[in-house]
Amino acid sequence: MSTTFTRYTVTAALPYANGPKHIGHLAGAYIPSDVYVRYLRLTGKDVIFVCGSDEHGTAIPNQALKENTTSKAIIDKYDALIRDCFNKLGMSFDIYHRTSEPIHHQTSQEFFLALYNKGLLTEEVSEQYFDTEANVFLADRYIVGTCPRCGNTNAYGDQCENCGSTLSPRELINPRSTLSGKTPVLRETKHWYLPLERYEPWLRDWILKSHQQDWKPNVYGQCKSWIEAGLQPRAMTRDLDWGIKVPLPDAEGKVLYVWFDAPVGYISATRALFEEVTSGNLKFATPRSDLSKAKKEDWKKYWQAEDTRLIHFIGKDNIVFHCIIFPVMLHTSGEFIVPDNVPANEFMNLEGDKMSTSRGWSIEMHEYLDDFPDKPDVLRYALLTNLPEAKDSEFTWKDFQAKNNNELVAILGNFVNRAVVLTQKYFDNKVPSQKVLTEVDKKALEELELYPSKIASSIEAFRFREATANLMDLARVGNKYLAETEPWKLAKTDMDRVGTILNIALQIAASLAIVTEPFLPFTSRKLKNMLGVSDLAWSDAGNGALLKAGAALNEAPLLFEKIEDERIEIQIKKLIDKKRAVEVAQQPAEPAKAEISFDDFSKMDIRIGKILKAERVEKSKKLLKLQVDTGIDVRTVMSGIAEHFAPEVVIGKQVTILVNLAPRKIMGVESQGMILMAADKDGSLKMLSPSGEVVPGSQVS
Ligand code: MF3
Ligand code: ZN
Repeated sequence: MSTTFTRYTVTAALPYANGPKHIGHLAGAYIPSDVYVRYLRLTGKDVIFVCGSDEHGTAIPNQALKENTTSKAIIDKYDALIRDCFNKLGMSFDIYHRTSEPIHHQTSQEFFLALYNKGLLTEEVSEQYFDTEANVFLADRYIVGTCPRCGNTNAYGDQCENCGSTLSPRELINPRSTLSGKTPVLRETKHWYLPLERYEPWLRDWILKSHQQDWKPNVYGQCKSWIEAGLQPRAMTRDLDWGIKVPLPDAEGKVLYVWFDAPVGYISATRALFEEVTSGNLKFATPRSDLSKAKKEDWKKYWQAEDTRLIHFIGKDNIVFHCIIFPVMLHTSGEFIVPDNVPANEFMNLEGDKMSTSRGWSIEMHEYLDDFPDKPDVLRYALLTNLPEAKDSEFTWKDFQAKNNNELVAILGNFVNRAVVLTQKYFDNKVPSQKVLTEVDKKALEELELYPSKIASSIEAFRFREATANLMDLARVGNKYLAETEPWKLAKTDMDRVGTILNIALQIAASLAIVTEPFLPFTSRKLKNMLGVSDLAWSDAGNGALLKAGAALNEAPLLFEKIEDERIEIQIKKLIDKKRAVEVAQQPAEPAKAEISFDDFSKMDIRIGKILKAERVEKSKKLLKLQVDTGIDVRTVMSGIAEHFAPEVVIGKQVTILVNLAPRKIMGVESQGMILMAADKDGSLKMLSPSGEVVPGSQVS
């Protein structure tokens, strides 16, 4: 089946607005999609690029619970954060929308009703897990238990993150509610299902037959095993109070399944894009191509016309939703096209371990941008050269540094800098002219001509790592050319020759300005400014006479700067510290000690005292020698707090003291009592002081 496509709809997975997103997400879906779209635009294609925040599903109320706030506050906070990071990283969406917007609620309800009215949804009363303590039906994510496939004891009701299996809550062994910790009970509830099994023949034909050649093996393989395992009806509604209301009379308290509404979000975002450009009121849209003549209804072309090529960029955990469930929805509606390709990536690990925000082992987009605000392209490059295209890959800070220092600085930056600086020096910063061409010159020009199409075919085949490598190879061609011709040695003897060489070097730089654009958009912009060019198309790249002799160049700032070891070590330490902090915070409290009687308790005489004097104890790191006014007397207490408090800080503080503890000799001094302290999870100590000043000797009971 080969269609001639005249327009493109490119989507990148809508990130859940339940937290910050990390660089693994960037490597999975976002950077590849941006490269692809920027390339398409440069080749003059009609393309729209849509994304937005996924603001429903249990992930949102889950996070609200954790942060002790509302779901609305969560989505507003993280939508803003993610949006800002994407902007700073150069993501060139035509629209970054939100699924909480009214137009999305309307679009997904319409979609649901269209299927319902055509009788394409089945209705089923089933037993669902119900938490009798919290008095709610439990969404899949609120149920954890043992995975029937791999034995992981913390599998979720919809998925096991250990073995990757998709599960249903009833399959879990020993299910428990995450809300109450109790074993849930089964209760009857009605839901609407998409009968996936009816579409098996269509899926076999569409994916297994038609896309065997052009879909990535990891994607094709997952689809195949899903289809062969036998498809099941999938509930498209949930019992939940956060989400899009099911638009039916007998659906009180029910919302659309988040995996029903979220992908429809691509369509809503497209509708919003055309509404915004035609009304002139740009709220979420930043249209990158000229849509000034567009009409409001034009969104339909991007979702309904057979000559539109729909491409979904996602990470591997999203494959079934984008290759099976959403396509079945699109197909069965009878109104929409289905994706032509879904180039899903595998996962990117981090310094030898799985990347995970919740475990604290991650580099969040905003964390990177806070520490390297002027280096969005360096991250793009480090990710692009390391994309998990065929298998999981790994990000390390050392590799990041090496990619910057040894490639961006030493090859690309160095080449451009030499060409421009020599032109400043010898030709008053104007492009010199080409005179007689030698063999070396001709060879360089021939190579230059080949690279753009090489890079293009890698991009078109979704091989972005290879494309990036080719890009750097073109800079290598330039470097090698300068190294071979050594124009700096010829300045005294043969200015014509120097001019010819620099002209060719600058032509290579100009092509680099074009072909870097999809990958390193900020660098491309700088390079174009330097060379005094703008608005070039992909087809201009490879042209050995792009820059006209005599044209003036501009100031030449360095494109990249070296990153020192120290900065990298700080990052590695930061990562380790963050993980430790999360581990500490997640540690359960010590179990309670054995029960005691009231008599046992009342034997202890606990008072509030005031520290009058404090001094360090010679030869002891831990001890402070304190003089404490107990109300009864002033006594000496040796306290092991010197690593936590300086003597001058504790003087004058009111503290809790056990006054009838038998005296003990510590470092030769008799200690008469014990100051009570709270030991925090991270090992730090805090004093127990009364909430207001009291008379020394006040009893604690
Ligand atoms: N929010 C989902 C995730 O982060 C992706 C949703 S993609 C969409 O895994 F198609 F549903 F929008
Ligand atoms: Zn498992």
